[in-house]
Amino acid sequence: MPFSQLILDRYSVRAFGPAPVSAEQKAAILEAGRVAPTACNYQPQKIRVFETPEDLAKLDACSPCRYGAPLAFLVCYDNAVCWHGQPGPADIGSGQVDASIVTTHMMLQAADLGLGSIWIGMFDTEKLRENFNIPENIVPVALLPVGTPAEGSEPFAMHFQRKELSEILV
Ligand SMILES: Cc1cc2nc3c(=O)[nH]c(=O)nc-3n(C[C@H](O)[C@H](O)[C@H](O)COP(=O)(O)O)c2cc1C
Repeated sequence: MPFSQLILDRYSVRAFGPAPVSAEQKAAILEAGRVAPTACNYQPQKIRVFETPEDLAKLDACSPCRYGAPLAFLVCYDNAVCWHGQPGPADIGSGQVDASIVTTHMMLQAADLGLGSIWIGMFDTEKLRENFNIPENIVPVALLPVGTPAEGSEPFAMHFQRKELSEILV
């Protein structure tokens, strides 16, 4: 499928079926995260995979938004590794941007494999740290549940509410 069509067809899946994500699919999505561009190529991304029933149950205690996906990636960055070179007091480090690009790569790779996914920002970071032993320098940015959309899964209305180019072009 052409990339221009892929980005039109992708939508946030909020109901997943039970079909597992295969090892090959998982590897392809992780590879898309591995090769993503990052500031100075410092590659601060750290990715955790949740797929065992135990981990998924522990994850559900941290976020209400897994939507039944059989697998979820947690994309983080290492604040001790990301670029901190922006001049001036505005420097917050490149980690959030780096991890967001990584997550976008992974989300679009999932779509290219015919899988559904959803970017989740609603999670309890402290609970994640506690449940999965995540140290302070590792900062969770996005949760990405992935799987096969459940039968009848449809985009939410929000998906269709895109601003016109004239509203965003400044
Ligand atoms: C940074 C970010 C955080 C998001 N967090 C959530 C979330 O916590 N829960 C949820 O259901 N959707 C979440 N979404 C999905 C958005 O609501 C969705 O992408 C948007 O409404 C556009 O719809 P579409 O992805 O179907 O095109 C998030 C998306 C982004 C980019």
